[in-house]
Amino acid sequence: MARYEIHGGNTLSGAVTISGAKNAAVAILPAALLVKGVCRIENVPDISDVRILLEIIEKMGAKVEKCEPGVVVIDSTGPISTSPDEELARKMRASYYLMGALLGRFGKAHVALPGGCNFAARPIDQHIKGFRILGADVDENENYINLQPGPEGLQGTRINLDMASVGATINLMLAATLIPGMTVIGNAAKEPHIVDLANFLNTMGARISGAGTDTVKIRGVNGLHGGTYAIIPDQIEAGTYMAAVTAAGGNVLVQNVIPKHMECIYGKLQEMGAKVIVYDDAIRVISNGRLRRTVVKTRPYPGFPTDMQAQVCVCMTLAEGNSRLTESVYETRFFGYCKELQSMGARIEINGKTASVDGVEKLHGAEVEAHDLRAGAALVIAGLSAEGTTMVDNIHFIERGYENLIEKMTALGADIRRVE
Ligand code: EPZ
Repeated sequence: MARYEIHGGNTLSGAVTISGAKNAAVAILPAALLVKGVCRIENVPDISDVRILLEIIEKMGAKVEKCEPGVVVIDSTGPISTSPDEELARKMRASYYLMGALLGRFGKAHVALPGGCNFAARPIDQHIKGFRILGADVDENENYINLQPGPEGLQGTRINLDMASVGATINLMLAATLIPGMTVIGNAAKEPHIVDLANFLNTMGARISGAGTDTVKIRGVNGLHGGTYAIIPDQIEAGTYMAAVTAAGGNVLVQNVIPKHMECIYGKLQEMGAKVIVYDDAIRVISNGRLRRTVVKTRPYPGFPTDMQAQVCVCMTLAEGNSRLTESVYETRFFGYCKELQSMGARIEINGKTASVDGVEKLHGAEVEAHDLRAGAALVIAGLSAEGTTMVDNIHFIERGYENLIEKMTALGADIRRVE
């Protein structure tokens, strides 16, 4: 199994260019199945989640062409299978977006239940509740979800989510785009990737409004036409590099970002002592000297993102004083990395949804393993900041969501390599 070997202690300098957003890409690629035509999608990150999804979509019958780096052309004119390859679908979580896309386009779907990072129980009851309210018959067991039109057929209507679920909001937008009538999703999630999906669909002729607010309206249309669309930059990848500079020290320009998406992230790093200079589409982070303690509570967008919990925790382990980190989306997320950080000398105490962190001068290298995507990224940041050598195992988790991590980090002066 491949691992990362990291020799800590180097500060980071130079510039890093952020790739397209993973969580937007895994929603927009299935959305291309709604289009009877050719979609040219740009700024697609070359990560394993995307590679698997493109393989699934191609096996379903769509024509998929990878042109120049970051550009994918998908022609879903058809015929398209409504039963995606089960083995591939189980390899990633976002394969469940195929349900909404297939239900919306063809009125039926037979999809294997997803895999993905298992740092918490990740039910999809809200997705299923919404499909049923739209008029679908949903049969589910522990392995599959089977969708088809109910006796009244599919019809737009109002759906109120029990919680602002990103996945349910996206899946229901996909399902409703081609269903007759007006669908209104109440208590919708507002993440940037939801706005990006709405912008993609509207570029292809959909009629979606309110994305980015807690009420998304989708007026069903008869069909979508092809077009060109560029995916937004990944604010979590960008935040990960900014946390790396903050923890390891240095001066780095993070390029190709939308600063608006990152206000909570860079605001917290500033609070901890990093100097942050915000440009139109780039952010410079400068960090030297001891970090200051802080308090973070993760929240749905526009709050501090849960996907940055592990990364900011590493900064806390090195800050002067006691920091507190409270998780409000997935309370068990701490268990994906805190033990590993403790083996590197971090002083973390978990009490329910809150971790109390007493900062130390330095972490030391250790043999650690990633348990999920963002936990793995945090262990890389810890290794860069620690004294000595850190070996990170299970790096397939990390490579699900970070394009060219070794090349990007090495270019910033990090001493990190992939070893078999
Ligand atoms: C998306 O997961 C992201 N994944 C996650 O990013 C991210 O952590 C999460 O949103 C929150 O921002 C993708 O976009 C592929 P949710 P998702 O539905 O859609 C509960 C990463 O690192 N819930 O907003 O699964 C659920 O248990 C990944 O890139 C239900 O109870 O998140 C959780 O507590 C990790 N029933 C909360 O809602 C449902 O039907 C938020 O889940 C759906 C969700």
